[in-house]
Amino acid sequence: MICLGIESTAHTFGVGIVNDKGKVLANVTDAYKTEKGGIHPTEAKLHHENVKDEVIESALNQAKLELKDIDLISFSQGPGLAPCLLVGLKKAIELSKKLNAPLIGVNHCIAHLEIGKLLTKAKDPILLYPSGANTQVIAYEVGKYRVFGETLDQGVGNFIDSFARHIGLGFPGGPKIEKLALRGKNYVELPYVVKGMDVSFSGILTNLKQKYDSKKYKIEDLAFSLQETVFAMLVEVAERAMAHTGKKELVLGGGVACNKRLQEMCRIMCQERNAKFFVPPNEFLVDNGAMISWQGILQRKQATKNYKKINIRPYERTDDVEVMWV
Ligand code: ATP
Ligand code: FE2
Repeated sequence: MICLGIESTAHTFGVGIVNDKGKVLANVTDAYKTEKGGIHPTEAKLHHENVKDEVIESALNQAKLELKDIDLISFSQGPGLAPCLLVGLKKAIELSKKLNAPLIGVNHCIAHLEIGKLLTKAKDPILLYPSGANTQVIAYEVGKYRVFGETLDQGVGNFIDSFARHIGLGFPGGPKIEKLALRGKNYVELPYVVKGMDVSFSGILTNLKQKYDSKKYKIEDLAFSLQETVFAMLVEVAERAMAHTGKKELVLGGGVACNKRLQEMCRIMCQERNAKFFVPPNEFLVDNGAMISWQGILQRKQATKNYKKINIRPYERTDDVEVMWV
């Protein structure tokens, strides 16, 4: 069985093709970027409208397949920006009807986790999932993926992007801040906000903006201190979740997980507690169609041609999903 999966929750339109053995046959993305300023939902939607057919075609080319070879269609149902999600839903229904292949909507956050498990062979991990809109520590416990800790306000990626925007860098800001941070030498004290297994970034953002505006600090030092502070917060809550659940594996997922310093800090923490640390390649950390496709394969028994039953779920939470495939 071969599944074509469509990702369109936010800035990225992605198409992946995966078979039921878990082999990734194609993974093609086209992401909306800006030179200045953040992500605008209507513009992102237009971006997706413009690129969707090309991305599908290049995914089929990469897989050396034709549309008629596809047996199942999956798409990101949520959480995400409604205008962007609707582009994916519409295209998925169109393909499903054209091919007479069943359709399955999947949860984007859980897809980040499952692709990590597939690619790393981790069995029962804690997932640290820091992305733009989300920041969660997730693990499987009695029938569901439970959220053990999460951000109380914005996702860590959005926090980094907001600071980047404030200092005149474009979107996405994460990679630019990572580069700047490499040249930072002096740690500047910032608020450190961990509450149990939850984290919060809005106070740190205000503090950083004030420090930048005061012109008393080097921008490299602020970028360095930002990373050291918020990544330490993420590692602390991931470690607490590992201690709490007794799990011995940590997997990373989500765009911010591309950051080499965050990866290094997670690796050290896992070494110190004799746990295994796994990080999939970058193309599977950021939003991508392969993870949606693999999630479709996992949930293939729930696929349907009853289109009236299928809609987007912009606010769906990780722990809303009934997990029937683990
Ligand atoms: P989700 O819908 O899962 O919240 P998302 O839409 O935010 O995901 P992702 O591709 O998972 O999309 O993550 C994008 C985020 O990752 C952006 O905020 C971006 O700045 C951040 N990012 C990407 N690379 C890096 C990096 N090297 N260091 C830090 N942050 C990064
Ligand atoms: Fe994502």
